[in-house]
Formats: sequence, structure tokens, C-alpha cells
Amino acid sequence: MQRAITAGLRKLIAAPDLAIDLGTANTRLYALGHGLIADEPSLIRIQPETGEVEAVGAHAAWLANVDPYSSSVSPLHAGVVADIEAASSLLKPFLKRAQRFGLFKPRVLACAPTGACEEERAALVEAAQRAGASEVFIAPEPMAAAIGAGLDISSHYAQMLVDIGDGVTDIAVIRSGNLILTSAVRTACSDLRNAVSEMVSYRHGVLLFPQEAERLMHLIGANFDYSQEELVVASGTDWLTGEPLQLCVSSYELNEAIEPVLDTIVEAIHSVVRKLPEETSCEVIENGICLTGGGAMLQGLPERLAAATSLEVRVAEDPMMAVINGARQMLDVGIATDVWQN
Ligand SMILES: Nc1ncnc2c1ncn2[C@@H]1O[C@H](COP(=O)(O)OP(=O)(O)OP(=O)(O)O)[C@@H](O)[C@H]1O
Ligand SMILES: [Mg+2]
Repeated sequence: MQRAITAGLRKLIAAPDLAIDLGTANTRLYALGHGLIADEPSLIRIQPETGEVEAVGAHAAWLANVDPYSSSVSPLHAGVVADIEAASSLLKPFLKRAQRFGLFKPRVLACAPTGACEEERAALVEAAQRAGASEVFIAPEPMAAAIGAGLDISSHYAQMLVDIGDGVTDIAVIRSGNLILTSAVRTACSDLRNAVSEMVSYRHGVLLFPQEAERLMHLIGANFDYSQEELVVASGTDWLTGEPLQLCVSSYELNEAIEPVLDTIVEAIHSVVRKLPEETSCEVIENGICLTGGGAMLQGLPERLAAATSLEVRVAEDPMMAVINGARQMLDVGIATDVWQN
């Protein structure tokens, strides 16, 4: 009787269950019955003098824009929690948004890349608990992405999902509701940006302003159209003098810079296909690749992956939201068990 009353009370005043996609670049939270309650940059800004958290998420990103050389940092590296304290500070205000009377803490379903080791998954659990979660369940990111992308994961035909985020590219082959093969390479959009910055620094002696590498990447993309050279203007500072200046960067040199990063992603996909038994690889070849994550939005990238792998590549309807949309659907059916599978 007392149990029933507690359960009823809990239902009335408890914080709703949460789904969390804590990504290297973006953090998204969904609260059961409330919808999306956060979709903000995974950034935290610490006051250097006091060591106190000054801002998180969109506010930290805004401050970083005002003062580009200020120290807003992501608590994640390559898709996994690198700083538990910072990650919990990032999550705390978002978890508070979902809490009604501050009594029962919310249960959380958090997504992690399939390459996350036990310690890295434990770091995610601890960060969420310190931020105010009661229990934390971990779901493999590509499984959530596949559900969010609308794939029929129960299908008996193998399907391949590739999620290219900011820090990690997660590749999974899914059949009958199971991940039958996965591979997570810690190479993704941030490496494309770094490759652009390094090339400009090495070839032109210019340190690009923050956000410039990202802008160049969006302008040129991964088109690799060698029939037509495009020139784009970029801004930065001279390596030697520190003077601000503008320079012209060619689409050829940008493509050349990002090619090794794309090759790593293509090779990771090839290697997964090679490891599959013949029948399964035929199914994957027949079904093609479903592409999710921010990388799917880089112009020319789906076409480039298709050409390099000889597989059909389909971009999910809302690629950057696929993981959180899938995690939300996992919440809807209940998070009674830890769904992690190695
Ligand atoms: N319109 C766009 N064109 C190209 N790239 C984009 C676009 N929008 C976002 N991106 C890239 O997508 C990345 C963010 O994608 P996403 O939100 O999937 O990453 P994440 O989930 O935070 O990272 P991860 O899953 O690797 O931890 C950014 O690094 C950005 O470079
Ligand atoms: Mg992600």
C-alpha cells in the first residue's frame, strides 16, 4: 500500500526521464512528456581568477564569439567525457530545466559512441549523476541514430549506419535489433577543421581566426570538383607579425587538406564491410549507408562517400538530431535495462 502511494506520488512530482546526447560539439536533452529542452553547444566557460563556472552552452558560445580568445572549452574529446567536473557543470543547468519540485531526481538515458571503453562510459555516468541524475543508462549512439533516422532496426536484413559527428565517426551494422558489428574512429568534423587550419598556417603563414576553418569547410565542402577552382577569402593573423590580414584560399588546397581525413573515414567503412560475412555484406551493399551527424550536412560529403565506397548513401531527414530523436524513442518504450552491448 505504502509502496503504491510512493509510486503514485513519484509519478506526480518526479522529474521526467531524460534522454541525453552529450556530443563533442553539441548537447541535446529531451524530457519525457516535455520535448526537447536543450540543444546547445557543448561549451563551458570558467572564470580564470575564481575557477567558477561563468557560462555554459549557448551563453558560453556567445561569450566566446564576443571574445574569441577567451577560454570556452568542451568537456568532451572525440565523443567521450574528458573532464567529468566540466561535463557535469555543463549538464547541471539543463537537468534543472526538467526538474519540477526538486524532489525525485530524473533517470537518464545517455548515448555514448560504441568505441567508448568502460572508464569512458563510467565518466559519462558520473558526470550525469553529479549533474543530478538518479540512475544513468547508456545507449550506443549509432543504435539511437538508426532509430532516430527511421531505420527499421528490427529488420532481418543488415543495415549500415554511419554517424559523423564533431569528434567521432561511429559505424554500425544493425540486424534484428542488434549491433552486429561496430567501429568508432576518433576522426570527424573537428579533424576536417584542424586540417584546414594547419594547411593555411603551413602554406600561408596565417593563423586563421576561430570559426574561419569551419566557414571555409562549409563553403567548399567535400565536392572535389577539380574542373573548377574556387577562391575564398579567409581572415586571420600573420604568424610572424601578429597583424590581422585576409588571404585567398583555393578550393584545391582545401580539398587536398581534408582528403586524408576523409580517407580515414572511408577506410573505416571499408574495413567494416570487409569484416562482414559474405551474406551480410551483400545485404549492406543492397541497403546502402544511412548517414547521420553534422558531417552528413557537409556539402558533397555523402556523394564523396558514395563514390569512394561504391555504396548508396542516404542522408537522414534531420541528421544532427538523429541520435537524440532515437534516444527519445528509446525513452518512450522505457529504460528499464542497460542497453549497452559491446
Ligand atoms: N551545415 C553544416 N555543414 C557542414 N558541417 C556541419 C554543418 N552543421 C554542422 N556541421 C558540423 O557538424 C559538427 C557537429 O555535428 P554533431 O552535432 O553531430 O556532433 P556531436 O554530436 O557534437 O559530436 P560527436 O558525436 O562526434 O561527439 C560540427 O563540428 C560541424 O563542423
Ligand atoms: Mg554525436
